[in-house]
Amino acid sequence: MCGIVGYIGYREAWPIVLKGLKRLEYRGYDSAGIALMNNSGQHIYKKAGKVAVLEEFAETQDKSGTIGMGHTRWATHGVPSDRNSHPHTSNNEKLSIIHNGIIENYATLKEELTNRGHDFKSDTDTEVLIHLIEEIQKIEQIDLLEAVRLALHEVNGAYAIVIMDKEHPDRLIAARKGSPMVIGVGKGEYFIASDATPIIEYTKNVIYLKDGEIALITREDLLIKQLDNVVQTPLIQELELKLEMLEKGGFDHFMLKEIYEQPRSIKDCMRGRIYPEEGKVQLGGIKEFAEKLKNIDRIIIVACGTSWHAGLVGEYLIEEYARIPVEVEYASEFRYRNPIITEKDVVIAISQSGETADTMAAIEMAKERGATIFGICNVAGASIPRLTHAGVYTHAGPEIGVASTKAFTAQVTVLTLMAFYMAQQKGTITTSKLIELLTELDHIPEKIQIALESNDLIKEVAEKIKDSTNCLFLGRGSGFPVALEGALKLKEISYIHAEGYPAAEMKHGPIALIDEEMPVVFIATQNSSYEKVISNIQEVKARKGKVIAIVTQGDTEVKKMADYCIEIPDANEAFLPLIATIPLQLLSYHIAVMRGCNVDQPRNLAKSVTVE
Ligand code: G6P
Repeated sequence: MCGIVGYIGYREAWPIVLKGLKRLEYRGYDSAGIALMNNSGQHIYKKAGKVAVLEEFAETQDKSGTIGMGHTRWATHGVPSDRNSHPHTSNNEKLSIIHNGIIENYATLKEELTNRGHDFKSDTDTEVLIHLIEEIQKIEQIDLLEAVRLALHEVNGAYAIVIMDKEHPDRLIAARKGSPMVIGVGKGEYFIASDATPIIEYTKNVIYLKDGEIALITREDLLIKQLDNVVQTPLIQELELKLEMLEKGGFDHFMLKEIYEQPRSIKDCMRGRIYPEEGKVQLGGIKEFAEKLKNIDRIIIVACGTSWHAGLVGEYLIEEYARIPVEVEYASEFRYRNPIITEKDVVIAISQSGETADTMAAIEMAKERGATIFGICNVAGASIPRLTHAGVYTHAGPEIGVASTKAFTAQVTVLTLMAFYMAQQKGTITTSKLIELLTELDHIPEKIQIALESNDLIKEVAEKIKDSTNCLFLGRGSGFPVALEGALKLKEISYIHAEGYPAAEMKHGPIALIDEEMPVVFIATQNSSYEKVISNIQEVKARKGKVIAIVTQGDTEVKKMADYCIEIPDANEAFLPLIATIPLQLLSYHIAVMRGCNVDQPRNLAKSVTVE
């Protein structure tokens, strides 16, 4: 949450920082600010609202300078407002800071600093940190780098920070713990950002700052230390990201582009991992644990949001094929219980961003208790892949729309591959069955392409239900997580209240909500629970609910009952979630567009949730 960008070099900093903030807006977008330094001093511009509001506000201001930093905010402490926007300054206004994360002990520190005569201009935890740094520098009479290092020993919580010093317009100080930070290395210039997207057009050489590291950055040089003062040798890595991946490519929204990318992203996810003719799955990332997988007692999947829904699909697949018991946990609940975890457990952490604070904390706890941790992540080099023992990347490419689409189907694809891989290792599946399943899986991208062709029909359905205030999504078996994900997509981006429920559970509560105003979306494909779902549809129709059904191509039964049917190609039940999710993504997208909502940046949400 919150995006940060910094630049020091020979180019004008404003356009670099501004463009970087636009790229990072997915991390939070309730206010934005930029600080620059030039011959006339330090200039700070900050405004509540999107980066575009800041851009307009600063149009006629002095924006020159070759050193600068910017922030796009997702509010934690203090409402979104001009004065709570970052950058914040120290008491003497010589130092300024941008911060992503939370300083948990800010209240105590604020009280102490207030007693020492500090005046605070905002309600943020961040401002307290920069005042603390100033105070330590003043008392100890030390260099700023040392003062920052000492101050960071005093704070609890998570941070990625950049600091500018009016008296030293030739340097930036950056540090991180628990929040991500990448440093781009150019010739005579350095870039700092929460992820690599603001950096990619200037340099491919990056350093991922590690937890507990602090950096002193000048135009010519970079010094990295640990917080305990030990100097580090930075590891420069080459980015694989391509600029066109960060653009809309002719689509109206990133979300729509990402929905349409799914046939490709799923193919990328499977590439080099499945061998249908041999009936074999290879997962290089977890290969060294192949033997261990034969004897594990249990799998615990931890995740948040959409990734948790992918985990529920994983539970269904792993139990079905590998016959290993699976528990799926919200990371935020799991970490605050005292769960029973043993060395024979494997924990699979699923995270698109690889930065979700609760998921990271759950991993750390399970690791301490001896479990083996696998990660399923999309963003290469993020924190979670570095915390886990092994893992499998989803290779979906950058996902910019805040509502997850292609990352979800890629996570489900990886879980499908993991289920087959574990089944192969444990001998719970025959080679001939694997040949059959993998041959079908190999063609799933084409089936998704066909599902996308219903777009016009889905738009018509969206038109009919766009003014609803509530919506129910029902499914059974692996159709249940699909229903949950469909409901989440709708509420996230269109602000229509939506619930996902197991279809059979409807009669234990949600049925009371059904009347002629209530659209009910059913996952009613022809699989093992088809007949039962038909009965549930009858129950809704008997109460005059509006039924929208996702059905198998050529279905005639459901068509007799439902108000609207959207067909998807027939597939083995194992692959149903990959296909049935597509029309639900499109339905939410069109409804949100028709309601005039900001599809890519829905209110109050952020793509990367680095607060607990
Ligand atoms: C946020 C995002 C969701 C995402 C969830 C978990 O809520 O808006 O799209 O599913 O975080 O994020 P992760 O990066 O761990 O998958």
